[in-house]
Amino acid sequence: MSRAWVDLVYLIAAVLFILGLKGLTHPRTAVRGNLLGAVAMLLAVLVTLFDRQVFGGGVFGYTLIFLGLVIGSAIGVWLSITIRLESMPELVALFNGLGGAASFIVAGAYVTATPSDETSYAVSFATAASGLIGAVTLTGSLVAFAKLAGHPLLKRMPALPHSTVTNAVVGGVTLLLAFVCAISLSYDFWFWLVVIASLGLGYCLTISIGGADMPVVIALLNSYSGLAAAATGFVLQNNVLIIAGALVGASGLILTNVMCKAMNRSLTNVLFGTLGPTGETKDADEVYVNVKATGPDEVAMLLDVARRVVIVPGYGMAVAQAQHAVRDLANFLIAKGIEVEFGIHPVAGRMPGHMNVLLAEADIPYELLKEMDEINTSMEQTDVCLVIGANDTVNPDGRDNPKSAIAGMPIINADKARTCVVIKRSLSPGFAGIPNPLFAADNTLMFFADGKQAVLDILASLKEG
Ligand code: TAP
Repeated sequence: MSRAWVDLVYLIAAVLFILGLKGLTHPRTAVRGNLLGAVAMLLAVLVTLFDRQVFGGGVFGYTLIFLGLVIGSAIGVWLSITIRLESMPELVALFNGLGGAASFIVAGAYVTATPSDETSYAVSFATAASGLIGAVTLTGSLVAFAKLAGHPLLKRMPALPHSTVTNAVVGGVTLLLAFVCAISLSYDFWFWLVVIASLGLGYCLTISIGGADMPVVIALLNSYSGLAAAATGFVLQNNVLIIAGALVGASGLILTNVMCKAMNRSLTNVLFGTLGPTGETKDADEVYVNVKATGPDEVAMLLDVARRVVIVPGYGMAVAQAQHAVRDLANFLIAKGIEVEFGIHPVAGRMPGHMNVLLAEADIPYELLKEMDEINTSMEQTDVCLVIGANDTVNPDGRDNPKSAIAGMPIINADKARTCVVIKRSLSPGFAGIPNPLFAADNTLMFFADGKQAVLDILASLKEG
């Protein structure tokens, strides 16, 4: 086998990565896309080992690699089986952080092992970039993880008094060190200094961002982990790592942009760690003075006489796995001649497209799903808005309260419907951790129950009536 074959296998792996990513753009092809990506990764690993064994400087310890594979796979399988859906963002944050760490450690190993007279400026630039981006990704992701998980360590993490100035100073120093590292061919010492400064920078950039804005930060850190991998690809002159890293970097950036728009945040603010207000949250007791509870019979009566119903699903629908019951309810209402539509908020749930995937899984026709802007135009003509396990995405504070932690975040105007029925188990907050005045509005009725059971009970009551 000649070197050309190695490159050909790398090319095949790269094409498979691209096809895999394309597959992930639709729920129906997502599983195949995932599989293609996994096959590509396996090919890339095997051909790299082969390349090193036959053409490169040999492979350092197959036993170690095998041990790493076994331990890593065992942790991966254990996590995929045990992880709860609501902990997915935390897991993604950790993955991003570990990706960043792997990138700068590999670049660091290269720096340590390569004599300075064998290197070039192209490599030293890439090494500095890998150290900077990888280390920022590591600490940024660890802070994001701690915030999402509400980890007790968070209390010991000092907040920054003048975050904008501090971020600018730490950022400036880190960039300067990275520049010195890049222009100095004997850069072992400088590289590790860049890593240390960047670890601090990652902390500074994320510590002052409120939990409600974390989804955007995680999308950005995801992009960073890809860029760090691509930079390491340049260090090692490994094409498939460059391509895979660039794919992650670019798709992460597109996702960040989509999420910024969905949450009305500016990309510059995310980049420089100055997102929306950290919030002056009202006390829940103050907000929930006038909450009215309801049950399946009353909701069935309201739906029975409605002409137009909008269903707004949220993360709670995913937890309750209520999508099939929701489909049956929607079909029943449609069969009675009632107009039914679904209002989909772009960040409802815990993953982009979360609601679309669930509703598609239950075979709810795509034409019934309306995006936030579209559904909001007809909310005032809606007789009943049925909110199922959504909270932040229907919180009027996003629209009306400039001091709220979610100020400026566009919402579905469920409060503008003639009657709003909210199904959830209690008055506990959603992801952003803040109370929701919708639950105490004059036209809102709260149905306290598990999402699936509540919908089944409403349907049973409708059928009886
Ligand atoms: P959330 O604001 O998180 O609220 C979900 C609600 O579901 C909770 O208040 C909970 O109330 C209820 N719930 C949980 N289990 C339930 C069950 N079995 N039956 C009925 N209700 C249940 O959800 P949302 O409105 O979808 O907003 C999404 C939030 O997640 C946003 O803040 C968004 O920024 C964030 N986020 C989004 C993403 C992406 S990319 N979409 C990623 C990470 C974070 P009870 O406990 O009282 O039942």
